[in-house]
Amino acid sequence: MFTLHDRRALITGAGSGIGAATARLFAEHGAQVALVGRTVARLEAVRDEIEAQGRRAVVLPADLGEVGAAAAVVERAARQLGGLDILVNNAAVYRAASIAGMGLDDWQEHFDVNLRAPFLLCQAAYPWLKDSGRGVVVNVLSTLATRPVPAVAAYSASKAALLSLTQTMALEWAGDGIRSVAVSPGVVDTPIHGGRDLAEMAAMHPLGRVGTAAEVAAAIAFLASDASAWTTGSVLTVDGGIHLA
Ligand SMILES: NC(=O)c1ccc[n+]([C@@H]2O[C@H](COP(=O)([O-])OP(=O)(O)OC[C@H]3O[C@@H](n4cnc5c(N)ncnc54)[C@H](OP(=O)(O)O)[C@@H]3O)[C@@H](O)[C@H]2O)c1
Repeated sequence: MFTLHDRRALITGAGSGIGAATARLFAEHGAQVALVGRTVARLEAVRDEIEAQGRRAVVLPADLGEVGAAAAVVERAARQLGGLDILVNNAAVYRAASIAGMGLDDWQEHFDVNLRAPFLLCQAAYPWLKDSGRGVVVNVLSTLATRPVPAVAAYSASKAALLSLTQTMALEWAGDGIRSVAVSPGVVDTPIHGGRDLAEMAAMHPLGRVGTAAEVAAAIAFLASDASAWTTGSVLTVDGGIHLA
């Protein structure tokens, strides 16, 4: 249905959950992938799986909470892959805290990793994506960007701002042939939930279950491919219907 043949992609948070599933699926569809995250062993495990299938993956360890990290990984990815066609801003932190009880450090880390890092990665990737002629940025949002719940204010606000960035970028970069799109997942069974039992969450989704990382990866792959070539500034909601609940 779609192909990512010969596309060069940088995926953040690629060592686990949605990022790892996206890296595997991209490689399956013919892309070369640069895997970014802090935990080297997990990135290497994903790389080894991809290489075992005869595809190319490179591991680029980085803490995206640090200002210089974004430009450095984009440079290394583009040099090692020979350019860059796709940037998937997937890495994020997610911690619960009430507004009254939240420390500034906690607030700041959410905005550093979930918003500033995507912004800096996009800035650094811009010349490469423009040079690609078919550049795409896919940002991973959340239902909470537009449907907040108590006790996750920093996370929700960072994702709402990332939605806004997605849309502005779509307008600013359309003339350069770069698309800017997003996925908005509902609750997905990944390590971000720290092993919590998600059964109660399942019932909140009209489809009666939480999602899988592979289901979100499929939406990301569609948006990154030419199958969605006339789509920019859009958000693909992949959430078992929870946005209607
Ligand atoms: N799971 C859900 O229910 C759900 C719902 C809506 C949206 N999302 C979004 O989906 C995306 C992926 O999350 P996930 O559910 O797949 O959870 P996950 O497996 O915990 O993935 C988060 C990834 O971000 C990386 N990361 C965190 N801080 C980082 C930093 N400072 N520098 C570099 N990498 C960092 C982590 O790797 P390291 O720790 O190794 O650095 C990890 O691989 C996130 O944007 C999340 O907000 C998830």
